[in-house]
Amino acid sequence: MNKQTNIQKLHELKAKSRLGGGEERIKAQHAKGRLTARERIELLVDKGSFRELDPFVQHRTHDFDLGKQKFRADSVVTGWGTVEGRLVYVFSQDFTVFGGSLGEVHAEKICKVMDLAMKNGAPMIGLNDSGGARIQEGVVSLAGYADIFLKNTLASGVIPQISAIMGPCAGGAVYSPALTDFIFMTRNTSYMFVTGPDVVKAVTHEEVTQEELGGASVHSEKSGVCHVAADNESDTLFLIRKLLGYLPQNNMEDPPFSASDDPLRMDEALDSIIPDDPNKPYDIKDVIRSIMDNGQFFEIHENYAQNIVVGFARLGGHSVGIVANQPAVLAGVLDIDASEKGARFVRFCDAFNIPIVTFEDVPGFLPGTNQEHHGIIRSGAKLLFAYCEATVPKLTVVTRKAYGGAYCVMSSKHIRSDVNLAWPTAEIAVMGPDGAVNIIFRKELEKAKDPVKRKAELVADYREKFASPYVAAERGYIDDVIEPKETRPRLINALEMLSNKRDSNPAKKHGNIPL
Ligand code: HXC
Repeated sequence: MNKQTNIQKLHELKAKSRLGGGEERIKAQHAKGRLTARERIELLVDKGSFRELDPFVQHRTHDFDLGKQKFRADSVVTGWGTVEGRLVYVFSQDFTVFGGSLGEVHAEKICKVMDLAMKNGAPMIGLNDSGGARIQEGVVSLAGYADIFLKNTLASGVIPQISAIMGPCAGGAVYSPALTDFIFMTRNTSYMFVTGPDVVKAVTHEEVTQEELGGASVHSEKSGVCHVAADNESDTLFLIRKLLGYLPQNNMEDPPFSASDDPLRMDEALDSIIPDDPNKPYDIKDVIRSIMDNGQFFEIHENYAQNIVVGFARLGGHSVGIVANQPAVLAGVLDIDASEKGARFVRFCDAFNIPIVTFEDVPGFLPGTNQEHHGIIRSGAKLLFAYCEATVPKLTVVTRKAYGGAYCVMSSKHIRSDVNLAWPTAEIAVMGPDGAVNIIFRKELEKAKDPVKRKAELVADYREKFASPYVAAERGYIDDVIEPKETRPRLINALEMLSNKRDSNPAKKHGNIPL
């Protein structure tokens, strides 16, 4: 062959590889409102930056009729590119080839790119669209998944791992994402389940649609498996790009700095945001947006366990993770789901050198048999454990209630928070005035001539004594009581003061967080 023919052959082979399962299947993919594996990569990375690995790798199976179905590529596209100029590694499963199912070489391609991501310390992004283990390849497919699971686990806490669910994903195709840091889903076109509706019907006789079993609403509102749900595929990919902007490339780096608006900016509206009636709600997200750079907040788990709010923002240009009780939902109480949501987020921030800012307004843990029977003790302990072990800079602002165990848990001074500030509206005590008076004055109230009047007096006394930040501040449990409008400059100043913070935990194999 002459040079010209050689190059022509190369072009032909590459073009065939790029077609994946062929034009008909690509059309079918588009007809379902979904993009192809390559189109997704193009939207995810900077234009023209993608470099593909292994475009010629093909499956080696001859069982069933797979031998006859040789596509010029297996069902995954892998490689690297950049996002805002920063290196990322990517795999994108191709549903047009064997339903994106994972066999031997599909797994090998993913493992190869994951190894590169680990060695070079850059985020790994997986775009999942797969029916799980390739049935025709039997145990070899399971082995391939297990190889990936191990790499996911070893990479955890070393490089950020982000998964997007872009189609119907089953079996191993959901367990690998489950081991990663963040899962994104696209509404109406992406689904996650351990077993698909056919298997569910065969085993349980239950008829369910893919949407009911594991659509984006199910996982972003009920199960909490999904961290961010977007309306369409391009939004999903755009939001991954945005998230990366808050994250370091790996656990040895600091997150990227980005110029901020005025660090001394004060918002007078904060001084009156807390309602006079302590039982009235307000939206903690208004507080967060008012304080953070450019009013921006990238929320994680927006529709799940909304009584706690978590997400990323910037303070004076520095990336921070925010954990905030939300008085507008269930009075901001801590329940099982909120505790687990908060704990996981705190651990991510700690693993990746992202300082944690906590806004506290919490009446306590949610009482009742439902919570007790489902293990609020264990779940609450997760959040406590996560805050205790975190060594990144930790800042806390008590806006209103800090009652009971929740006071200790929500990044109190005692568990190594660095700077704890309170607004004058803070109430810090073992419990709220009403409950406290009922317990400690029960006998007196039983005997009182006018129990309603006496209770009102006792509540007022208790409120005067305990429902303020000053008892805690007198002991130094609160470092300072500040005007709410000062919060932004005070937090930025504290963050910069802590920029060289060094803290560590005792040497050990690993702790035993109450899972
Ligand atoms: C081989 C598969 C496949 C699989 C889909 N296909 N899943 N081929 N192995 N696991 C093929 C189909 O045969 C079909 O091929 C093509 O992909 C498209 O699939 P459809 O069923 O036509 O698409 P759709 O109706 O959109 O349904 C998608 C689906 C469904 C919901 C993913 O295919 C499904 O339920 N698949 C099996 C899911 C499952 O139970 N996986 C678990 C595997 S066990 P043709 O040629 O006809 O177009 C596992 C264990 C790992 O993963 C370990 C976990 C810890």
